[in-house]
Amino acid sequence: MTQIISQLKTLRVIPVAVVERAEDAIPLADTLVKGGLPCVEIMLRRPAAVEAIRMLSHRSDILVGAGTVLTIEQVDAAMEAGARFVVSPGFNPKVADYCIRNRIFHFPGVCTPTEIEAALDLGLHIFKFFPAEACGGLDYLVAISGPYNDVEYIPTGGINAGNLARYLQFSKVLACGGTWIAGEALIRSGRFEDILSNTRQAAAIARNCSQAI
Ligand code: 3PG
Repeated sequence: MTQIISQLKTLRVIPVAVVERAEDAIPLADTLVKGGLPCVEIMLRRPAAVEAIRMLSHRSDILVGAGTVLTIEQVDAAMEAGARFVVSPGFNPKVADYCIRNRIFHFPGVCTPTEIEAALDLGLHIFKFFPAEACGGLDYLVAISGPYNDVEYIPTGGINAGNLARYLQFSKVLACGGTWIAGEALIRSGRFEDILSNTRQAAAIARNCSQAI
């Protein structure tokens, strides 16, 4: 297992963040590290996102990925800035194929068996399950994952401290992602103490959760 996958499997939670000012990436990363979740997926939804990734890329204490990656150009920009993995909301065969050819860790989004099979066909086997709660939540994920043995999922979309443990009990859930730990408004207003307590809470849930399903 590669180092990135094993780190994510250990952490079991990926804080997902929208960063408006690149410089906020530094206190955000410090807070996530201090709180016990040294990982962040920075979504490419604001112009500062690539710079924010770049500001963290030299750090060995935090795993930095890019989210909301929709195009090959965005893959290139994220990787050039130092992202270690890229996440997409959906399954785009062009983006997926490009990542495979360039040995880039890519977690495409799926929410139907058809999408899972299209992605499996390319040799991928770790998928973002998005939007998790709106799609039907854990019950739906358990149902669609039945036919696919060697697939693991990163449910994202509607995950929070209240339902995290439930998802993490499912053995096919590699990790859960979400913005509830470091929401855009918290980052924008510099509420890093709140982010710290959200991080500690999520890390504790992940630590105490066994895979029972
Ligand atoms: C997204 O791409 O919107 C993310 O998956 C975040 O979802 P959340 O805000 O519901 O955590």
